[in-house]
Amino acid sequence: MLDDLLRIEREFNQALDEAGSDPDAVEAIRVRYLGRKAELTGLMKKLGTLSKEERPAAGKAINILKQKVAASLQNAADQAGNARRTARLAQERLDVTLPPRMPWTGTVHPTTHARRELESIFRGLGYTVESGPEVEDDFYNFQALNMPPEHPARDGADTFYLDGGLLLRTHTSPVQIRTMQNRKPPLKMICPGRVYRRDWDATHLPMFHQIEALVVDEGITMGDLKGTMDVVWKRYFGGRVRTRLRPAYFPFVEPGCEYDISCQVCAGDGCRICKQSGWIELGGAGMVHPAVFEAAGVDPELYTGFAFGLGIDRIAMMKYGIDDLRLLMENDTRFLRQFPL
Ligand code: PHE
Repeated sequence: MLDDLLRIEREFNQALDEAGSDPDAVEAIRVRYLGRKAELTGLMKKLGTLSKEERPAAGKAINILKQKVAASLQNAADQAGNARRTARLAQERLDVTLPPRMPWTGTVHPTTHARRELESIFRGLGYTVESGPEVEDDFYNFQALNMPPEHPARDGADTFYLDGGLLLRTHTSPVQIRTMQNRKPPLKMICPGRVYRRDWDATHLPMFHQIEALVVDEGITMGDLKGTMDVVWKRYFGGRVRTRLRPAYFPFVEPGCEYDISCQVCAGDGCRICKQSGWIELGGAGMVHPAVFEAAGVDPELYTGFAFGLGIDRIAMMKYGIDDLRLLMENDTRFLRQFPL
């Protein structure tokens, strides 16, 4: 009997070694050595055939081996469980050092960005921000701006006409009239917005963006106009910008001018963007015509004022070094995702 026990223990240990950390193999060994048909169970049953003297020692030896086997099996099962969990964790491990794939988010369009920046500059100078309708009538777009029906300047405006005497505004200047009708001077306002003209080539689009500026008070001069422009461009471009006024005709200002800023791409030396001139034309300006004041109900004997318009798209192109106006309209995300810079 003792020999049997020693053999069983040896075989058990060897089997357990071979099972390693395979939980199924460990379970099979448990069934084989502790189950109902196990040899040890059989030996237990055979105790009755032994003599009275041999029985207690043999029973004790069987029980000790059973306990050893049970303890070893428990140990092996624990280890197998650990090994299985470790293997699973290794498989599931996340590499938290991998760079994430960033979701695409929308960006602010360069024209919008330029508009917001300019608005904040003008607000800082005490201007209010006004708006007006894009569908205008003849009075606001032309007549009140000193362009009666037969005025030749209307032809040059390339207007989109709509039914019922309405039209798409060709400039933001009608908002000058609307503002003066609603508020008494002194006033300082800007109006950013879309304007429409029948134009379509590399440097002109049928829709583009302007900002109108209007200042009305007693004693406003052309010097205020030039000084205001200098401050605004310096704040916007943050560097050395010169402003140049060139005499030009607009029916709603007198004197009137077009104005340029020194090219921000080449600093005035001459480049492709400024067509080698060193200057970029930004818009028209001048002193508000007395006829405009009268149409808007402001006393031209008491007040003077200046007004100017600027192309937001063009100023954004300058700021960001964009050399094709169409890029601003095509909504190509490869282009737009670069903004704000
Ligand atoms: N409205 C003019 C244009 O669109 C620009 C302008 C504005 C000129 C104000 C003079 C004064 O061309």
